[in-house]
Amino acid sequence: MHNHYVIEDAFNSEAQHARETLFTTGNGYLGTRGVFEEGYPGEQAMTLIHGLFDDAPIFHTELANAPNWVHLVVVIGEERFRMERGEILGYHRELDLATGVLRRTVRWRSPAGHTVDLAFERFASLADAHILGVRCRLTSVDYAGLVELRAGLPGFVENTGLLHWEWRDQYRLGTGGVVLELQTRGSRQALGMATALQVEGATLTVQDCDWQPTVVAAAEIAPGQTLVADKLVAIYTGRDVPDVRAAVSYKLETAVAAGYEALRAASDAAWATEWESADVTIEGDDEADLALRYSLFQLLIAAPRNDDRVSIPAKALSGWGYRGHVFWDTEIFMLPFFTLARPDLARNMLHYRYHTLPGARRKARESGYEGAMYAWESAATGDETTPRWVPGPEGGLIRIWCGDIELHITSDVAYAVIQYWRATGDDAFMRDYGAEILLDTARFWGSRAEWHAESERYEINDVIGPDEYHDHVNNSAYTNRMAVWNLQTALEILDWLKVQAPTRAAELEGALDLTPSRLEHWRDVIARMVVPHDPETGLIEQFDGFWSLKSVNLADYEPRTKSLQFLLGIEETQGYQILKQPDVLMLLYLLESEYDTETIKRNWDYYTPRTDLTYGSSLGPGIQAALAARQGDVEAAYGHFIHSARTDLQDVRGNSHEGIHAATAGGVWQAVIFGFGGIRITEAGLTATPRLPQGWTRLRFRLHYHGKPVDFDLRP
Ligand code: BGC
Repeated sequence: MHNHYVIEDAFNSEAQHARETLFTTGNGYLGTRGVFEEGYPGEQAMTLIHGLFDDAPIFHTELANAPNWVHLVVVIGEERFRMERGEILGYHRELDLATGVLRRTVRWRSPAGHTVDLAFERFASLADAHILGVRCRLTSVDYAGLVELRAGLPGFVENTGLLHWEWRDQYRLGTGGVVLELQTRGSRQALGMATALQVEGATLTVQDCDWQPTVVAAAEIAPGQTLVADKLVAIYTGRDVPDVRAAVSYKLETAVAAGYEALRAASDAAWATEWESADVTIEGDDEADLALRYSLFQLLIAAPRNDDRVSIPAKALSGWGYRGHVFWDTEIFMLPFFTLARPDLARNMLHYRYHTLPGARRKARESGYEGAMYAWESAATGDETTPRWVPGPEGGLIRIWCGDIELHITSDVAYAVIQYWRATGDDAFMRDYGAEILLDTARFWGSRAEWHAESERYEINDVIGPDEYHDHVNNSAYTNRMAVWNLQTALEILDWLKVQAPTRAAELEGALDLTPSRLEHWRDVIARMVVPHDPETGLIEQFDGFWSLKSVNLADYEPRTKSLQFLLGIEETQGYQILKQPDVLMLLYLLESEYDTETIKRNWDYYTPRTDLTYGSSLGPGIQAALAARQGDVEAAYGHFIHSARTDLQDVRGNSHEGIHAATAGGVWQAVIFGFGGIRITEAGLTATPRLPQGWTRLRFRLHYHGKPVDFDLRP
């Protein structure tokens, strides 16, 4: 593998929170922010476990922050190692993307003048999701005396002021380890963690502090001597096993028997296999090569492996942002990578949408519609979890309408189902799960379309399209056109099902009440839905009245570091032709084959200068890049691509502290594969129309089509 280290050469306490996000590690079961083992004032230590939701004010539900398993305190004589005291004489941190290992070396002189070298590394095993490890090598430079290493399970952890945990139990194990058992207060989910410390030549004791059982190793050290401490952790929740106590005890015992090195080797081997399918190599542009690999790493560590009732949240498992909720970010931005590189993982996440159909049905019913209306923000059950009111930047409350009227998520889920099926040919999935999603989402659109007798057209009014700078709009082109697409596709799938699996077809016809008159109604909606556009110019109007809004030259606001919405105000922005992110262009991107190149070009020219690409949504630039490259404007494409690729590596938006921009990571992959590689999924297979940026000498990657790997090796 090419370039695979993300490096930090000096500790910067100002950038601490963004770096914690940047150095997030994980294994598809949990994610852990890159905090330091010994702790640091003001840190945002966080371990988020898929599916471990608990009730929360405002956000309805959120992932409960689990105890910080990397906790390891080093005491030199009387002094505790901490980077904000004493002197840092050397510092290096690196995330090895090839193995998911995070390392840090520090040469530290204590306030009393003792110098030590510390080398930490940690991994969340990809071979066994329930195993975590931290290794600390301590070498004395000039110190002689006692050192102590304290490995704890700090259970008293909060989510920004909210304590989700109830203490259940803590105890020692015969093997010298300790166990902590907690339970979430609202959702009553159990969490068990066990830890052991292995240090050759040290005396081990247990400190049974309330909420924080700790194993302590003490040893004498002399200059030139090294002590190696291995902290092993086992973790289970009540979602995984009925008895977390038995599970963690047993897992810790097997981990201790295997030892740190063997456990790491198993994880490294799993990572090697992982990258065989997922890696993309860009030759001639090291920055792009590393940035893309970093994006894929973050997607891979967030993707659930053995659990199909969870999916990747907007900030993955790396920060407070959006509280672990799942958006269209997953289906439209991240899933294409999984569908083509790791279809097994894509399938898991589509199953999540299948299992949350009951929540989507409840939402439709409660809103007065039929079928399945997916939640704009989704969590454990699929019920709507978008906050209705949030505190504004200048005090006061802001009403968030997305949960009520940002409807397009429903067809976005359907779109991902079809894309997965086209690429994989997974008919069993379509028969057993996908078809039901497509048909029930169609049922929703059929009931949501409003008939207007005067114009003899169907309309969908009072919505929010992808561009959230405008709300309560009528006839959003994206929403209406994708609704039509959803209805058309459902009819096609029903025909397919009748031939391929007549029993299942009949079952769904009965369960979803797919009567001939309902299907006739769908056809009528398809034929007579309004999609605002100008046949003369080929321009699609983003929503009714968009063309009569005030126009503005975005360049007049440069230089700036804030979004246009922030600068102009939420209400004021509504009156302008300014987009938060591609909207009509997003539609043309998703349904590319249904539009001619001239239409795409005209709309591109119209909407691009009106889109707040730098400070609007981070979802925008990757897609803008892919579209530009597909039209042959490689230079413009590269600009958007590299901006997108730097989002978290350089914290270009200044909000990385809230968590990884996971949709952006997926967009970076799409810019490269669908944009510069020009990959299309066709009936006959995958095709490539490469248009490589200046300087790129080679682009290599592996995709999967209908169960078989296909290797691409593209040159300029
Ligand atoms: C974007 C949405 C996105 C959400 C979560 C918003 O700012 O406008 O498109 O789904 O963030 O990432």
